[in-house]
Amino acid sequence: MSKPIALAADHGGYELKNAVKQHLDELGLAYVDFGTNSPASVDYPDMALPACKAVVNGECDKALLFCGTVVGISMAANKVPGIRACCCSDAFSAEFTRRHNDANALCMGGRVVGPGLAIQLVDLFLNTEFEGGRHVNRIAKLTALEQR
Ligand code: RB5
Repeated sequence: MSKPIALAADHGGYELKNAVKQHLDELGLAYVDFGTNSPASVDYPDMALPACKAVVNGECDKALLFCGTVVGISMAANKVPGIRACCCSDAFSAEFTRRHNDANALCMGGRVVGPGLAIQLVDLFLNTEFEGGRHVNRIAKLTALEQR
């Protein structure tokens, strides 16, 4: 993967983001960290937007996003045109959202999944290719929904 990965979290997800950062460091994978980097309360849309913009504008390849429940930051991410964010806490979804949905943002909850599972989900997400085929038209219809 040539482009860096975009990372972002609110205060509910920043510890899990740190665990994933350590894993990316061990793998030698580049990333851009859009914060937050403390337990101080922040608003998840403010953290999601710059990371998602970096993916849409081509600066970053995919986004890994974290909040407490996973719900808020995934909602914010999916408001950004061009982002297909998966709200994820299981391996099957992490794999198939790449194979079938060509997801470009993986969202996880720091109060839902532990670091071991999160790292497994990240590896599946980053290493699984989009299958194309019958799924291409479905992705095109998602894009069309953004333009209504
Ligand atoms: C923050 O307390 C929490 O609401 C946030 O991290 C997230 O869970 C929202 O969906």
